[in-house]
Amino acid sequence: MITALVPASVDPIDDDALHRIYAYPGTDRPTGPRTDSPTDRPYVRFNFIAAADGGATSGGLSAGLGNDGDQRIFAVLRRLADVVLVGAGTVRAEGYEGDLVDDDARAWRSASGLAPHPAIAVISGSLDLDPAAGFFRSAPVRPVILTSRDAPAERRRALAAVADVVPCGPYTVQVPAILAELGRRGLTKVLCEGGPSVLGGFTRADAVDELCLSISPLLAGGDGPRISAGASPSVPVALTLSSLLTEDGALYALYRRATLYRRAD
Ligand SMILES: NC(=O)c1ccc[n+]([C@@H]2O[C@H](COP(=O)([O-])OP(=O)(O)OC[C@H]3O[C@@H](n4cnc5c(N)ncnc54)[C@H](OP(=O)(O)O)[C@@H]3O)[C@@H](O)[C@H]2O)c1
Repeated sequence: MITALVPASVDPIDDDALHRIYAYPGTDRPTGPRTDSPTDRPYVRFNFIAAADGGATSGGLSAGLGNDGDQRIFAVLRRLADVVLVGAGTVRAEGYEGDLVDDDARAWRSASGLAPHPAIAVISGSLDLDPAAGFFRSAPVRPVILTSRDAPAERRRALAAVADVVPCGPYTVQVPAILAELGRRGLTKVLCEGGPSVLGGFTRADAVDELCLSISPLLAGGDGPRISAGASPSVPVALTLSSLLTEDGALYALYRRATLYRRAD
C-alpha cells in the first residue's frame, strides 16, 4: 500500500490519487493538454530508480531495483506521457521491446483523449542500433530516432526503413533541437526514462523540469552507474520536493525544478 509522507496523509494512495499527484503541471486534468507553458518547449520529466547506496543498476539493469510500488508509479507515468524518450544505451541494455503500456492503460488513454500508445523516441549519435532488433520489430508505434546530421549515412538509411530518423544538430545531438522536434510533433509531455548520459546531457542543457526518483531499500554495491553521467553543469539545478510517497521501505520522490522559467536554450 502506497502512502504519502509529503504532503502527509493517512489515506492509501490509489491510482486516481497517483494520476493527480503526477499530472503534468499546466494541465487542468491529469490527461489534459498543457494549457499554460512555463517554457516554450515541451515539459521534461525524468524517471529513475536508484538503490539506497546510489547505484542505478543491479546486475547491469535497473529492473532488479524495483518493487510493486515503483512499477505502479512507472506505469502511471507512462499513462500520462505523450512520448517516452530514452538514450540508445538504455535501449541496448534493456531492450525496450513491445508495448510500453498495457491494455488497460491504452483503453484509459483513449477514453481520456490521448493516443492509445505514447510515442517512443531514442537519442543516438552513432546510430548503433540494429534495425532487425525486437525494439523495432515489435514497436507498437513507429519509433523516432533523434540523431545528428553527421551520423553514419548507411546506418541512417537502414534505420529509416523502421523508424523516423531525425537530425537534431549538425555534429552532435543537441538538447534544444530534440525538444523542438518533439514539440513540432505535438509531444509536449515528455517522459524520459534515462539513462544516465541523457540525464547528464539534459542537466547541462538546463532542460530538466522534473525528476521522479524511486529510492529502493537495497545496497546494490558494485561499480554500477549513478543516475547521471558526464560533465557537470556550470551551476547545479535547484529542485523542490513536490511529493514523497512510500511503500515497503521504498521512497518515491517527485522533485520539480525550483525555477520553472529558466530556458533550455
Ligand atoms: N536506474 C534507472 O532508472 C536507469 C534508467 C535507465 C537506464 N539505466 C541503466 O543505465 C545504463 C545505460 O547507461 P547509458 O548512460 O549508456 O544510457 P543512456 O543515457 O540511455 O544512453 C547513452 C547513449 O545515448 C545516446 N546519447 C545520449 N545523449 C546524447 C547526446 N546528447 N548526443 C548524442 N547521443 C546521445 C548515445 O548513443 P550512441 O552511443 O548510440 O551515440 C549514448 O551512448 C544501463 O545499465 C541501464 O540499465 C538505469
